[in-house]
Amino acid sequence: YNVPEAFNEPVKSYAPGTPEREQVLATFKELYNSSVDVPLYIGTEEIRTGKTKTINPPFDHKKTVGTYHEAEKEHVVKAIDTALAARTKWAAMAWEQRASIFLKAADLLAGPYRAKINAATMIAQAKTVHQAEIDAACEFIDFLRFNVEFMTQIYAEQPVSSDGIWNRMEHRPLEGFVYAITPFNFTAIAGNLPASPALMGNVVVWKPSAAQVYSANVIMEVFKLAGLPDGVINMVHGDPVMITDTLLESPDFAGIHYTGSTAVFNGIWAKIGNNMGKGIYKTYPRIVGETGGKDFVIAHPSSIPAQVATALSRGAFEFQGQKCSAASRAYIPQSIWPEVKEKLVADIASMKMGSPEDLSNFITCVIHEGSFDKLTGYIDAAKNASDAEIIAGGKYDKSVGYFIEPTVILTTNPQYETMHTELFGPVLTIYVYEDAKWEETLKLVDQTSPYALTGAVFSQDRYAIEQAAKALENCAGNFYINDKPTGAVVGQQPFGGARASGTNDKAGSVLNLLRWVSPRTIKETF
Ligand code: ALA
Repeated sequence: YNVPEAFNEPVKSYAPGTPEREQVLATFKELYNSSVDVPLYIGTEEIRTGKTKTINPPFDHKKTVGTYHEAEKEHVVKAIDTALAARTKWAAMAWEQRASIFLKAADLLAGPYRAKINAATMIAQAKTVHQAEIDAACEFIDFLRFNVEFMTQIYAEQPVSSDGIWNRMEHRPLEGFVYAITPFNFTAIAGNLPASPALMGNVVVWKPSAAQVYSANVIMEVFKLAGLPDGVINMVHGDPVMITDTLLESPDFAGIHYTGSTAVFNGIWAKIGNNMGKGIYKTYPRIVGETGGKDFVIAHPSSIPAQVATALSRGAFEFQGQKCSAASRAYIPQSIWPEVKEKLVADIASMKMGSPEDLSNFITCVIHEGSFDKLTGYIDAAKNASDAEIIAGGKYDKSVGYFIEPTVILTTNPQYETMHTELFGPVLTIYVYEDAKWEETLKLVDQTSPYALTGAVFSQDRYAIEQAAKALENCAGNFYINDKPTGAVVGQQPFGGARASGTNDKAGSVLNLLRWVSPRTIKETF
């Protein structure tokens, strides 16, 4: 199959004097001083229901940068009907045409839309320019480009034929529509979850997170400009329970592509099971979900303290800790703890926090008041706990934006609440173990949390690395040796976890795209 070879989009620097810096700042200013009115996109229509919510930057929450319209049940039903009406033509379209649309979208994001998708992500998801560039530009572009290559690998995989017999496989789309539910924390994931089933010939109803509507609107603009036919991806906003129930009640519901919390995913799975029990679906729905994490770093006494400290400060606090992959519990041996602590505390002290508009800031604030209140509740609890103390950060202020200092909780209790509960913010909990208890500590890592998304081991001892890789084989879908447990790159480290972290269908891989096809095997005899 002749397709352009996929490559990772180079990350731009945004250093003073670069054109990208000027462009992103100008676009930020322009968007920040205007107001957008985000509709529902259903087929050819942009529907403004009049039932609106405001869009407020988390770092300046009294400011409004736009509104979005919420759907009633009738709009969700209309989105299903519209998607199904578009299905026959889209599913029959030559794969080259579908591929071409998403490759064009990648080029628009790499070129003329780069500043807009980044500025939108900075404003409404409170990302720094570097965080936005890695996510909304590069990772999103990578998903779009690599998925085209993965699609052709799937089509190329054909059964063996023999004399007088021709066996072949058609990788047809699912019979029905796919429901994409996407999170606030990655614009790339928000774009990829509707795009990858659509690339494989499926039609989609997409509900972005209420906190990501602003950049989702730019994604729709890019998809449309790239030539995506009306009705292939339909976007709705509003009451998540009503939207989900309506979509899951349809006999044509054929799959869900989800990223979000474990609790919500479990609820959706139960609803699908319940509907299955009633026999309402035409086909077994595909259930693909990436959920929470309680991602670990475990250091062996042979590890290099400075390397461990850097992994902790970057792994836990970059992106304000709002990554499912963020390092959020660490196990450090007593012998190297003083050195790790000294560098970690110094690293944190040097992290400049503030609005994304000031490009010198390294971190910004958390996404909304709900998240702020939850995180600060855990911080306050640690301040008052007998088995925990705060050794860095711990201050917070929501008067202007939802700012929380990067915070480190040190606990003497390996079962302390924040060693196993996902917080989704800039809070890291550390347990210091006796060097001789390395093997016991590996067991603790395995048994303390229900999640299995990412994790990292640090050691200069090959035997210890091997021991950790074996003991922790079910604890992380993405396992790192001597590196922080974040920052998976599309095409290099396919991403996803098991246990309470999801169905492990590896975003940005053949495995993921295979969930969006319903193959037909054909045997022809001559
Ligand atoms: N894919 C993102 C990472 O690995 C979440 O950090």
